[in-house]
Amino acid sequence: MGSELIYRGHEAQPLGDGACSPKPMKRWLSLPRAVRYLLREQRLFFLIAGMALATIVLALARRPLSGPPAIAGSAAAGAYLTIGMARHSTVAAERLWPGYQAAMMGSVGGKVPLGLKRKGMRVVVTGGAGFVGSHLVDRLIERGDSVIVVDNFFTGRKENVMHHFGNPNFELIRHDVVEPLLLEVDQIYHLACPASPVHYKFNPVKTIKTNVVGTLNMLGLAKRVGARFLLTSTSEVYGDPLQHPQAETYWGNVNPIGVRSCYDEGKRTAETLTMDYHRGAQVEVRIARIFNTYGPRMCIDDGRVVSNFVAQALRKEPLTVYGDGKQTRSFQYVSDLVEGLMKLMEGEHVGPFNLGNPGEFTMLELAQVVQETIDPNARIEFRPNTEDDPHKRKPDITRAKELLGWEPKIPLRKGLPLMVSDFRKRIFDDHGTTSTGSSSASSAA
Ligand SMILES: NC(=O)c1ccc[n+]([C@@H]2O[C@H](COP(=O)([O-])OP(=O)(O)OC[C@H]3O[C@@H](n4cnc5c(N)ncnc54)[C@H](O)[C@@H]3O)[C@@H](O)[C@H]2O)c1
Repeated sequence: MGSELIYRGHEAQPLGDGACSPKPMKRWLSLPRAVRYLLREQRLFFLIAGMALATIVLALARRPLSGPPAIAGSAAAGAYLTIGMARHSTVAAERLWPGYQAAMMGSVGGKVPLGLKRKGMRVVVTGGAGFVGSHLVDRLIERGDSVIVVDNFFTGRKENVMHHFGNPNFELIRHDVVEPLLLEVDQIYHLACPASPVHYKFNPVKTIKTNVVGTLNMLGLAKRVGARFLLTSTSEVYGDPLQHPQAETYWGNVNPIGVRSCYDEGKRTAETLTMDYHRGAQVEVRIARIFNTYGPRMCIDDGRVVSNFVAQALRKEPLTVYGDGKQTRSFQYVSDLVEGLMKLMEGEHVGPFNLGNPGEFTMLELAQVVQETIDPNARIEFRPNTEDDPHKRKPDITRAKELLGWEPKIPLRKGLPLMVSDFRKRIFDDHGTTSTGSSSASSAA
């Protein structure tokens, strides 16, 4: 027996390695792995066919939606969109386009269903049952807009807007703006806030809350639905001004801890919030700084100087002048203000804009105009001045003239008689308001 060594190494080798003859290399096996995967089992064919099909389906679905949406095609779309409106509505719709398209998937393709008309602009007026707000509502309705008034009736009255009840373009919601609210709208005029010292000092914490939380809520709504937002600020942001007349570039001289600060600083904060939403969230905003305004529907006993003098003269009471009566104010008739607010909202400029009548009167001069208009024998009575009452107020309206093409048209001697006839009617016809009420006047707005 030979002890020769036999090599058995091949038994331990894997079968494929040398035992099987290698297959001939196919050409496509040299391509990258992903491409090889696609080329197998007709995957490429199915991929191309799928893409072609998806393209056709998407093209068909988009075609009727190529313009601004005509009407929401589903409840979900309706909740986020305001529909078929001019100018800014297009902007609003564009911002909401992805949500809108998603909502429209599976709908009938965005055509206005038979029997439904395109709607006009939808506008919210917070504080719309108040003095300025109700006049603004009249003009918006007259223009053909749908108006939603949001008011908690703290100083507003249903009587101011009652003539619109039954109009399908008018809605009234009792709501406090310190609570959030969701509405589909194109424009928000934010007026809700007591404006006279008697009312805003009544509950100062509530006043500042209305200005801060209320403004935040309305700005949040504007951001969510892509609406344009207009803040009605005030000349009070200039405080007791060290510059005369006051231009928008003047930063003011305001006491942050005085009894009027809830209003003055509240409005200043509201302006800050408005600009921060504009810069930070691209909300389209407008800021109006309103100077003393008078006219029909003012609260009769709200302590504002014009309403006070008129009510006192009609009731045969002495006209109460605070301090020496040499402090000055400018007085704007309400229709001029409304015109300015609407021009501002429709224009391209953010502001702030002073909206007021530059005609300057001392309190004594105003008392004389009231005497001439109502009762030449009305007596004037002097009382100590109220705290923080500004000495001078007169708007510089150069900016509004140049950029908005706006200036007031109604002089005091023409506007006052219009207000007097409204006051006369309310004081003598409505027995509920014949009481003298508060006579504490201030020359402030
Ligand atoms: N009239 C002026 O001379 C004058 C001057 C400067 C600024 N402004 C501003 O213009 C706006 C309107 O002033 P106005 O003279 O019509 O005053 P107003 O008191 O007649 O109207 C304010 C309206 O806001 C409502 N309101 C108040 N707080 C509210 C709240 N928390 N939630 C909902 N509604 C609320 C009131 O009920 C009222 O209807 C105010 O923002 C005011 O600061 C007015």
